[in-house]
Amino acid sequence: MALHRQSLYENAPKAKINLQGIRRLIGIYRFMLPYKGYFLMGLVCLFFSSTVLLAFPYLAGKLIDIANGKTSRLFSNMNQVAYALASVLGIQSLFSFLRIVFFAQVNERAMSDIRIALFERYLQLPMSFYDTHRVGELMSRISTDVAMLQDTFSITIAELFRQTAILIGGLCILFITNPQLTVFMLAIVPILALLSLLFGKFIRKLSKSTQDKLAKASIITEEILQSIQTVKAFTNEVFEINRYRRTLQDFVATALKTSLFRGAFVSFIIFALFGGIVTILWYGSQLVYEGKITTGELTSFIIYTMFIGGSIGGLGDILSTLQKAIGASERVEEILLEAIEPYRIERFQQPIVLHKSIRFENVSFAYPTRSEINVLQNISFEIRAGEKVALVGHSGAGKSTIAQLLLRFYEPTFGTILWDEKNILNFPLGDYRGAIGVVPQEILLFGGTIRENIQYGKPSATEEEIVWAAKQANAWDFICSFPDGLDTIVGERGVKLSGGQRQRIAIARAMLKNPALLILDEATSALDAESEYLVQQSLERLMESRTTIIIAHRLSTIRYADKIVVMQGGRIIEIGSHESLLQNERGEYRKLVDYSDLESKQTQGRSPYPCDSFNQL
Ligand SMILES: Nc1ncnc2c1ncn2[C@@H]1O[C@H](COP(=O)(O)OP(=O)(O)OP(=O)(O)O)[C@@H](O)[C@H]1O
Ligand SMILES: [Mg+2]
Repeated sequence: MALHRQSLYENAPKAKINLQGIRRLIGIYRFMLPYKGYFLMGLVCLFFSSTVLLAFPYLAGKLIDIANGKTSRLFSNMNQVAYALASVLGIQSLFSFLRIVFFAQVNERAMSDIRIALFERYLQLPMSFYDTHRVGELMSRISTDVAMLQDTFSITIAELFRQTAILIGGLCILFITNPQLTVFMLAIVPILALLSLLFGKFIRKLSKSTQDKLAKASIITEEILQSIQTVKAFTNEVFEINRYRRTLQDFVATALKTSLFRGAFVSFIIFALFGGIVTILWYGSQLVYEGKITTGELTSFIIYTMFIGGSIGGLGDILSTLQKAIGASERVEEILLEAIEPYRIERFQQPIVLHKSIRFENVSFAYPTRSEINVLQNISFEIRAGEKVALVGHSGAGKSTIAQLLLRFYEPTFGTILWDEKNILNFPLGDYRGAIGVVPQEILLFGGTIRENIQYGKPSATEEEIVWAAKQANAWDFICSFPDGLDTIVGERGVKLSGGQRQRIAIARAMLKNPALLILDEATSALDAESEYLVQQSLERLMESRTTIIIAHRLSTIRYADKIVVMQGGRIIEIGSHESLLQNERGEYRKLVDYSDLESKQTQGRSPYPCDSFNQL
């Protein structure tokens, strides 16, 4: 797990360390404020566990001095020093233990608070946000980025504190006990530490490019496994194997080059480490020989030096982790600052009712991601309470977009939609959406049981209500044919339902919700005659005495509509009943019915892409 995480972070983008970044990083730790008691206790333990460690080299030196017959005021025999060493180790272990436990209390709770805050945001962000963000990226913010912050807090902050304490404390002790040797040491160690830091950075860059190459190979594997049917059907196995081999060869070449530098790095480190120690040992032994210091003092000096060298190197690593953490906190904050839908988390209690009518008044609309193309242009029509209105037209005419506007997934660019003469934007969002039921064009079921999927329409539904809804939706028979009945798991790791079965589950769900306005977006995929009959029958039950907008692809649904709205390229071109529209022999509806071709060629807006230049090909 730790290794896996490590490799995830290796590729995490870094941000610059500047005041703003640090402020943001500290800002994200506001989530820790509720747990500040634990945090303070953790800090105290961290202070003691880091500083107590500094006594260790001193005591080790004393041990050697006593062995050489030199006692001091504090210690007259070896056992006393041994007791002191044992206490130092004991205190150190105890405080380290407590520090980890206290910090975990803060860390785990605060990070889960951040995750909940992000999740809440995700659910409340408007649809337009999802048009511009990829799901994978949003997933990584809530998992990898938060994990990054978590590790930064639990490991890096503690390390930063410890290394700084060792660096400052160690240097002070050395200056006080042995200024001459310290100045000599300071001329060597920081330079060596910096050199190895730079070398290390270079190596990391190399291994990152190795990892990128490997990632490329994994992407190929993933793609191929996901579309294995296509690869086999087109007999492209050999082509894919060669593609994979080429990518791996590239990876191996980079990895081998990296290993050269890695080898050089390791030998440099050994050389620098021991070279530095040997030099100080050489200079120090002369001082011992001249009687300026004792053997014990030299020993503790060497150990302090090793501590200090280590902490300089450690601080470099910490800086690079901090950079990544700043990046992570920026990505998390970005979501937390994003504007949300005017939605109150408390669930709608009072779905609104429809008394008179819903009216589109000169509505125009462009999707925010394609603001130059008006998908709807000057749409006006009325749906009276209790009426069934069918929307028909070619694919891409803007029918589903009308449903999206009605659901307030987007706001019209111009014009208004009125519900009983009140702008729909003025209703509380929860109450408003609570009054609308949708059976969408593409039905996605959650990966739970059939029961949970139906209950989604009304979480408080009783067993009787669920069975009733399933029966109304003509779903009960096929549900009973499964050994687990309502408890059958659907989705990726369960039973795969057919298109018609999924539709009937969605109908049962809408049935339970019992909405004032029903929106049916018929699936374009054809059903066989029997499923079509079952779906149609259940839809009729659902629509019974209910205001309904039907986006229709089947003639059978349209014929009985009170009103048919014919759309083309984002405009309404005809409105009327089936009979009256058929009268117009040159009308678009007549054409649609004659060819029974309710979805054919696209009628899209013009895009800047130079399609015409391909015409002669
Ligand atoms: N989220 C979106 N962002 C940008 N453009 C979109 C988006 N959704 C749909 N469109 C575009 O809006 C236009 C109308 O799409 P819409 O889904 O309303 O068509 P439709 O009439 O429902 O077609 P179909 O019968 O195929 O379902 C199309 O050109 C489509 O490419
Ligand atoms: Mg559609």
